[in-house]
Amino acid sequence: MAKIIIFGILDTAELAHFYLTHDTEHEVVAFTVNREYMTITDFKGLPVVAFEDVETIFPPEDYKFFAPMTGRKMNTLREKIYLSAKQKGYELISYISSKATVLSDALIGDNCFILEDNTIQPFTTIGNNVVLWSGNHIGHHGIIMDHVFFTSHVVLSGHCIVEPYCFLGVNATVRDFTHLAKGTLVAMGASITKNTEEWGVYIGNPAKKSEGKLSIDVY
Ligand SMILES: CC(C)(COP(=O)(O)OP(=O)(O)OC[C@H]1O[C@@H](n2cnc3c(N)ncnc32)[C@H](O)[C@@H]1OP(=O)(O)O)[C@@H](O)C(=O)NCCC(=O)NCCS
Repeated sequence: MAKIIIFGILDTAELAHFYLTHDTEHEVVAFTVNREYMTITDFKGLPVVAFEDVETIFPPEDYKFFAPMTGRKMNTLREKIYLSAKQKGYELISYISSKATVLSDALIGDNCFILEDNTIQPFTTIGNNVVLWSGNHIGHHGIIMDHVFFTSHVVLSGHCIVEPYCFLGVNATVRDFTHLAKGTLVAMGASITKNTEEWGVYIGNPAKKSEGKLSIDVY
């Protein structure tokens, strides 16, 4: 059991507060955001403090940190806060839902946010700062690297490698033994049958790299 500071005051932070409160022994004690976004000083009945000052008010020796942010800017905003919190000396926790099916030898890094109904098969490695929203299938012998975002109901077949910063839209499917290069955006409903190129947007079934101006700045 630890006392936790959550980064953010929007939906994801509210959900993190809900999950930690209802499904872990941790105690959430405060929220933090960058000073320029501090529109409130109280959220869920707890104090909101400026991220710039957080370590002086809640010292890293006594408190742990959780930054389960969205995938905006291809996960780079979440990466920035993750690295800053580590630099301040915080240990970052991971949340893994009690309703996820995680086989005991799967390796999972820090600051991961893994919600209900995910199936993580054996011999899988999940890096740091990875979000698996609800209901994904992570096939056996898979490797998911740091700063990756799975939305919901993605099927990652066995033996796939997902490089940093990838974002997988709802209901995407990835063929076994596929390598998703750094920063691949898999559109919702896309079916990936071949390895991808860095920072490519892949769309359709079978998925093709978009040559148009489809945005990698998802939602
Ligand atoms: C691929 C994606 C990033 C493109 O977003 P965008 O740049 O805003 O694109 P638009 O919505 O303007 O759509 C542009 C065109 O592509 C089509 N399109 C968009 N996404 C598509 C998809 N996944 N499959 C097929 N066609 C798609 C649109 O219908 C539109 O077609 P049109 O030009 O004929 O009207 C986005 O559609 C996507 O898949 N995002 C992931 C959403 C998601 O999973 N959210 C989960 C939140 S938890």
